[in-house]
Amino acid sequence: MIPVSLYAFYFHPLKLLPILLRYFLPKNLLLRKVTLKIEEIYENFDVILVASGRSAIYDFLNCIIKLKKFKNRNEVLIPDYICNVVDRAVIKSNLIPVKYKTDEYFRPMKEDIYTKISEKTLAVIFAPIFGSYDDTFVQAAELCARTTDAFIVFDNAQCISCKPPKETDAIILSFNNKDIWGVMGGALLIKREKSRAYLKFNPEKLSFHEEFRYLLEFFKILYKILISPLSASRSNRLYFEHSTCSRFPYMLNKKAISKISLVFALHGLNELQNYKIKREKNYKAFKEWCEILKIVKIIETKNVSTAPFIPVRVIGDIRNVLLTFNELGVQVKMPYALDDDPESSARRDVIAIPNNPNFDYTKIFRVIPELYQYSHIKKRV
Ligand SMILES: Cc1ncc(COP(=O)(O)O)c(C=O)c1O
Repeated sequence: MIPVSLYAFYFHPLKLLPILLRYFLPKNLLLRKVTLKIEEIYENFDVILVASGRSAIYDFLNCIIKLKKFKNRNEVLIPDYICNVVDRAVIKSNLIPVKYKTDEYFRPMKEDIYTKISEKTLAVIFAPIFGSYDDTFVQAAELCARTTDAFIVFDNAQCISCKPPKETDAIILSFNNKDIWGVMGGALLIKREKSRAYLKFNPEKLSFHEEFRYLLEFFKILYKILISPLSASRSNRLYFEHSTCSRFPYMLNKKAISKISLVFALHGLNELQNYKIKREKNYKAFKEWCEILKIVKIIETKNVSTAPFIPVRVIGDIRNVLLTFNELGVQVKMPYALDDDPESSARRDVIAIPNNPNFDYTKIFRVIPELYQYSHIKKRV
C-alpha cells in the first residue's frame, strides 16, 4: 500500500527542486523580494524580517519598552485563548500579560478589553486565529485607539493576508507552517511613520552555524514527509504538520531570518492565492468527513474554509478523538494552554486540524470514514 503522505502530496517532490534552487541566490536579493511581496499586502508599513513570529513580538515589545514616554507601563493585553509563545514573549520582555476575553469564535470582547485597559497598558495584541478575522476586530481596535495611546499590535501569524484596521501600529507575521509552509521565520511590520521617526529595529545577522542549523531542520522535515512514511510501521501514516516549533521552542532572540526560511517565505507568498483554493477544497472534504463521523464539530469562523487551521469542538471524550487522529497520522494542534498542559487551557475541548495546502484531503478524508467509522471507532466507543 502506498503511504497516504505520498499519494496525497499535491505536487511531485521533484517540484521542490526549482524552489530550492533559490537558495543559491544572494540573501540580500531574497530579502528584497520577500519584503516587496509583503509590502504589496501591507502598504504603510516597514518590513523587518526576523527569526520567527514569536521573536517578532518580543522584538517589538523590546523596542517600545525603551520609549521614555511609556516608561511606567508594564502590561500587555493579550487574548485569553492563544498559543503560549505569545505569553512567553511578553513575560520574557519583563512585562505582564493581561488576558482579555474572546468569544466562542475567538474574537475579542470589547467590553472586557475596555475594563482591562489602564494607565499601565503598553500594548494591546489582537490575534485573529483560525480564520476569525472580521469586523469585531476592527471595532475593538477602534475602541482601543479611543481609550488609550497604547500600541495596537495585530498578530497575523495565522492570517497573513488580513489587512488590519488603520489604528494598527505593528503587525506580526509567521512563515512557520501556518499560512505558509516553512522553516520558522517571521516578520515585524511597523507603521511607516512611526518606524522612520522613533521605532527602529535592526535584527542581528545570523552566523554561518545558525544558517546551517536551519538548513538541517529543512532536511529533517523533508525526511519526515517523503522518506520516513516509507519505513513507518503503519503504512497509512500521514504527516500534515511539519512544524519546527518543538525544535526551536521558545526562541526569542532579536535575530534576522534565515536564508532557507526566506526561500520558503517567497514561495509561500507567491502561492497564497493557490493555497486558498486548495484549502477550500480540503475544508469541504474534511467537513463531509466530520458530518459522517460526528466525533468533532467544526467551529465556523468567518474565514474557516481558508484558514491554516480548522478549529473543531470535540464531541465526547477528547482522548478517543485524539487517538483517532493519531491513528490516522493526523497531527492536531492541541488545546492552547499554558506550559503545554491541556488541563490549563481556557478551552479544553477545542483542537485544530491543520489545513495543509500541500496535501489533497479529498483523497485522505474520502477513504477513511468507511475504514474507520465502522471497523475501528465504533469498536472503541
Ligand atoms: C497567533 C500566533 N502568534 C504567534 C505565533 C508564533 O509564531 P512562530 O511559530 O513563527 O514563532 C503562533 C504560533 O503558532 C501563533 O499561533
